[in-house]
Amino acid sequence: MSNEVAELIKQKLGLKNPKIAVILGSGLGDLVESMEDKKRLSYKDIPNSPTSTVAGHKGELVYGTLCGKEVLCMNGRVHLYEGFDPSNIAVAIHTLKDLGIETLIVTNAAGSLNKDIAPGSLMLINDHINFSGRNPLVGPNDDFYGSRFPAMNGAYTQSLLEKMKEIAKREQIKVHEGVYLMVLGPNFETAAEVRMFTKMGADAVGCSTVPEVLAAAHCSMQVIGISVITNYGAGMVQNAPSHLETLLNANKAAETLVKLITAFIKEEG
Ligand code: HPA
Repeated sequence: MSNEVAELIKQKLGLKNPKIAVILGSGLGDLVESMEDKKRLSYKDIPNSPTSTVAGHKGELVYGTLCGKEVLCMNGRVHLYEGFDPSNIAVAIHTLKDLGIETLIVTNAAGSLNKDIAPGSLMLINDHINFSGRNPLVGPNDDFYGSRFPAMNGAYTQSLLEKMKEIAKREQIKVHEGVYLMVLGPNFETAAEVRMFTKMGADAVGCSTVPEVLAAAHCSMQVIGISVITNYGAGMVQNAPSHLETLLNANKAAETLVKLITAFIKEEG
């Protein structure tokens, strides 16, 4: 099934040979504006494809170039808290694999659990904690894509993380590095949860990314994860976090994110 869908996407978007795909999180659609020779395909026009119900998530595949390098963008994602089954996410990642994608850049908006990582900053994800209780690899394993019990040691590709840090330094973009913890959501965390997650070694919390990374690592894709920090976790500051604050801060940081990803694709793509 996935292969037929890949074929359809290939034809509708006129794909040549993209090797890099980017998943854009809440309020982070700006990258698409920088792309040239764009072609768009709404998720609605992809058979069996779930569509996001969340404000700030567009729901389209966009193919084009950045600095002359081909890139395929998932502009908007679906979340497990919307009621989607994690297998939907595995199918989407398998489709990218079928299309020849080798490197996946996953972005998200996340809450900070670390007082040194302020809202408005970027955090490169060096590892994750799956606290969602869900997993896209549950169910019969498709050996075509990967093994039943994949190791997650290198889920976030170390060499690409180092490359991203070098590029950030050169472009004078300040980036943090840390552990992303996924909750199912949709509510923001309690202050007690925030204290617990900090003690567990997490630096940022959000409701996405981990399923995509699990599926991508399972099928041997290289992965880079970038969190745009949009708010402090509950109890770290006076005000309560909100989706509006998330979108506003994501929009503010989007320009820096676009600069970083573009510079990376220019070299790597
Ligand atoms: N918690 C969970 N998800 C989020 C947050 C948060 O604080 N900020 C943005 N997405």
